[in-house]
Amino acid sequence: MSVYVNEKTGKDAVEITGSEDQPFQTPAFALFVKPEAKVFVHKQVEESDEFAYSEISASALKKAKKGAEGLKKKQEKQLKAQEEQKAKTDEQAKKLAEVELITIEEDESLPTAKKIKLRHIQENINARVSIQGWVHRLRLQKGFAFVTLRDGTGFIQCVLTGDLAKAKVTKELTLESTLTIKGVVKKLPEGKSAPGGVELQTDYYEVIGLAPAGDDAFLNKVQENADPSLLLDQRHLTLRGETLSAVMKVRAVLLTAFRRFFAEEGLTEVTPPCMVQNQVEGGSTLFKMGYYGEEAYLTQSSQLYLETCLAALGDVYCVQESFRAEKSHTRRHLSEYTHVESELAFIDFDDLLSHLERLLTKSVQYVLEDPVAGPLIKQLNPNFVPPTMPFKRMEYIHALDWLNEHNIPNEEGEPFKFGDDIAEAAERKMTDTLGVPILLTRFPAEIKSFYMQRCKDDPRVTESVDVLMPNVGEITGGSMRIYDYDELMAALERENLDKDSYYWFTDQRKYGTCPHGGYGLGTERILAWLCDRFTVRDCSLYPRFTGRCKP
Ligand code: 4AD
Repeated sequence: MSVYVNEKTGKDAVEITGSEDQPFQTPAFALFVKPEAKVFVHKQVEESDEFAYSEISASALKKAKKGAEGLKKKQEKQLKAQEEQKAKTDEQAKKLAEVELITIEEDESLPTAKKIKLRHIQENINARVSIQGWVHRLRLQKGFAFVTLRDGTGFIQCVLTGDLAKAKVTKELTLESTLTIKGVVKKLPEGKSAPGGVELQTDYYEVIGLAPAGDDAFLNKVQENADPSLLLDQRHLTLRGETLSAVMKVRAVLLTAFRRFFAEEGLTEVTPPCMVQNQVEGGSTLFKMGYYGEEAYLTQSSQLYLETCLAALGDVYCVQESFRAEKSHTRRHLSEYTHVESELAFIDFDDLLSHLERLLTKSVQYVLEDPVAGPLIKQLNPNFVPPTMPFKRMEYIHALDWLNEHNIPNEEGEPFKFGDDIAEAAERKMTDTLGVPILLTRFPAEIKSFYMQRCKDDPRVTESVDVLMPNVGEITGGSMRIYDYDELMAALERENLDKDSYYWFTDQRKYGTCPHGGYGLGTERILAWLCDRFTVRDCSLYPRFTGRCKP
């Protein structure tokens, strides 16, 4: 049998016959297809321009045989791979068919599972419990599935084995899906670690809401290193993360701690309005709004309302949102923040300062003692040092000396002089260097609000105080208030404020005045200090600041 090869016109393919009319391209392929055939190659006839078929030379034949062998081996390899692939696919299909058949059913003979929240897990060791929550972490392994469930009160690692691990629902489970999961709480053996030192030996579970997989999967929505503004767009999802939710828990405990302190000190909680018609802290940060055809604002501070409550209720406080149309894009300014404000009657400036020291030391103590918030602060801010009384007290004028001695310039880049505002950067440098809480007192009247009482021994300055904390700066501002009617009217006039519209406030000085003072404390700023957060934005549920009012 003969087979023909033409390098130029031939083709190496199985459908080629290898005849003179339909030659192969290479001798190797020709021999691969027809191993016994005599090979004729198309080549130039000696001493002529003509081309014709002639039998292959001995050396070319040797080479071609080798090539044919190589092709054969390659073909064998391909066939083997195809067979293996088929076996694998068959196996997978079989397994899938088996998995499809697995149904998760509760074993009715087991003891009834007690429905609990995860905060009660330690009291239920060796008990069969039912827990409902969100899939926080998920790890699928051969024969096992590890689901860390979160219910807002804690986390637990649930171990799924046998059919529970093999079932299709388990294979298709996604992060943030909601489950009801039942099983026995077991203490972890030595050397293993999981939240709370326990795990749930799961015997049954069901999916309540399956979260999306693929492009819409939770982790694609909230990628850890994503742009902060993208993460803020997804705040409703990022809040589920361990850090933000921890800060929010500390926040809740902190507000409870304040309320506990105020109750201990005999203050009454009131809820002043947010829609108001008088400014408190200067016109430049007012949010104006239409109010049935009248002009109104979102409140900057509830202070003036608190002052009006003294005669009715005695010492009062409120936990209320305040609003500032801040132009400053700093890490400690929000457009809306939770303002804790108090007003105390018949006190002097010293009383106010020691009240503030007690407030801050006791509230922080209560938070640290709290079984939920205490450990979270340790986690978020391991180096936190609780404040102790008495705080360092420093007068504004001495702060200027300190700043000048340390070559920290004012806003114009010059040495500080009396009357200069100590702006955020300088204040931060001083507070961070001193490294302890500071009561900065006696600010000049012209850089403070209209209502502040002047010092008797130096009328250039006021009975005012800012509480400064390391890493954040000012967290609280307070003062004694002008309580003389004429003096207050003169102050309103000096600030070009419409005296008449403040009648309800100035009346306090008319109908039984009293020396009094108070303060406002920025919840998000205290939290930034307590939880060591870079910005107050991380301490607000849905932060509002320039350009951000969603979601
Ligand atoms: O110093 P401020 O403006 O004082 C007052 O509003 C007084 N009327 C309070 C009073 O005496 N009742 O604000 C008080 C505190 C600040 O120390 C700061 O912690 C916080 O409120 N604060 C802000 N927090 C976040 N974003 C802002 N834009 C803030 N402005 C003030």
